[in-house]
Amino acid sequence: MATPIIAPSILAADFSQLGEEVRAVDNADWIHVDIMDGHFVPNLSFGPDITMTVNNITDQHLDVHLMIENPEEWVDKYIEAGADCVIFHVEATPDHVALAKHLRSKGVKAGFSLKPGTPIEPYLADLRFFDLVLVMSVEPGFGGQSFMPDQLDKVRTLREAIDNNNLTTLIEIDGGISEHTIAQAAEAGCDAYVAGSAIYGKDDRAAAVDNLRRLATV
Ligand code: DX5
Ligand code: ZN
Repeated sequence: MATPIIAPSILAADFSQLGEEVRAVDNADWIHVDIMDGHFVPNLSFGPDITMTVNNITDQHLDVHLMIENPEEWVDKYIEAGADCVIFHVEATPDHVALAKHLRSKGVKAGFSLKPGTPIEPYLADLRFFDLVLVMSVEPGFGGQSFMPDQLDKVRTLREAIDNNNLTTLIEIDGGISEHTIAQAAEAGCDAYVAGSAIYGKDDRAAAVDNLRRLATV
């Protein structure tokens, strides 16, 4: 089993000192950037400018999670801003495979995400077009919510489909990941873990990252 990938979500960071908050987790693997448009989800966060600011602060891989309508109209802006992986929601676009091909043609990794109520089965045949699947374990829109353990069935289904077809698509989980929940997600077969409040809610952010990675090592 590869080393677990820990992706702190800067949504939970103190924005008055964003530079320090990003540098505080330089022992993490990726930085998770949550983009919310107030339409696809009932909350607003930030856009390409802040994404570019984060990219200028760190050399870490930027994992950009677009919780927005019409992602096809916006992805190029996030690529220009420095995204390494662009994750869009399948509920928000009519042709997820076309968008994945576009992302790869621009030299970035392609990911899709699903809300808790969206089944994974219709997408299993298209996994080869994607570098990553982001399973939401809360309703997207807000940090600090409770983990939904029933979403781990989706992770198990994905793990089996990916392994049976010798694919390299990574499984990432997002929402309510903490020292209390990460081991079950690891057991179900995740590769990467987003954590907002479980990292930025602690005084020692770097220690929280190391602790989560240790607990996810199965
Ligand atoms: C939720 C976002 C998450 C969020 C996670 O809509 O996609 O990335 O920041 O926050 P926690 O880890 O606090 O649940
Ligand atoms: Zn997210």
